[in-house]
Amino acid sequence: MSIMIKAEGISKSFGEKRVLESIGLEIGSGEIFGLLGPSGAGKTTLIKILTGQLLQDGGSAEINGNDSRRLTGDERRRIGITMDDFGIYERLSCADNLKIFARIYGMTQKDVLDALEKVGLSEAQKTTAGKLSKGMKGRLKLARAFMTAPDILFLDEPASGLDPVSANEIHRLILSEKARGKTVFLTTHTMAEAEKLCDNIALLCDGRIVEYGSPAEICRRYDHQRMLKINLRDGRDIVIPHNKEAAVKVASLIEEGKTETIHTTEPDLETVFTEITGKELSA
Ligand SMILES: Nc1ncnc2c1ncn2[C@@H]1O[C@H](COP(=O)(O)OP(=O)(O)OP(=O)(O)O)[C@@H](O)[C@H]1O
Ligand SMILES: [Mg+2]
Repeated sequence: MSIMIKAEGISKSFGEKRVLESIGLEIGSGEIFGLLGPSGAGKTTLIKILTGQLLQDGGSAEINGNDSRRLTGDERRRIGITMDDFGIYERLSCADNLKIFARIYGMTQKDVLDALEKVGLSEAQKTTAGKLSKGMKGRLKLARAFMTAPDILFLDEPASGLDPVSANEIHRLILSEKARGKTVFLTTHTMAEAEKLCDNIALLCDGRIVEYGSPAEICRRYDHQRMLKINLRDGRDIVIPHNKEAAVKVASLIEEGKTETIHTTEPDLETVFTEITGKELSA
């Protein structure tokens, strides 16, 4: 599998403030990679560096083997980007929003209409963007990223702030890009989103990657957090660590006929993140 996105030793400061420290990553072709971290962790900054929108202080970033600082127009067209902080022109129609970018990238009217169709916005092509629902705006941003038929997508919080139905719609679109062999780099605050979409994730905290792997691998690494949940016949629940001592306790409860059901609970990524960083992900 070829490496599509590569970072080595990337560091970045704004003034005195160090935002990224020795970031290294390799993302393979066809992979959905998720960068997770609380607000201010440096996620958007890293996307800007990887896509050549911002210069790093040290280290190297490559897209498909090409230095991110020197991407040609053609190489840029192979990358589709949505950022949380560059948005949509509210007073323009959906189609006109895309046409601005179509001109920059040398795309045609047909490319604009195809991109709107892909995200289910054909009928809204003449609607003013300001009148769109949040979910539709999310899809319009994706349409812009899809328009050049890129091989690599950088999606900065693509489903942030959306209701579950709209978020699912975005997830479906991202997964269908993966099914077409595209590589996706996304950022999120939501563990459930990462678990659903991502082959691999990295947890970013205070500018450093503190954990990396598939969601399942990471959870297994923190398996010591597994708990046993026992529902008692009297309606109470007991939650105890899943260890040798638990066996004695469970045996006596069963003997006394007190148990209704017994489950093991795997740690979820949210719990793992809190243990590693001491911070809540959504904070
Ligand atoms: N252009 C800039 N000038 C100065 N500081 C900046 C600039 N861009 C980002 N920062 C600072 O860098 C840190 C990381 O910001 P960044 O936007 O990358 O975080 P993030 O992980 O994307 O957060 P969020 O989840 O809120 O989008 C923050 O402390 C932010 O204030
Ligand atoms: Mg951000």
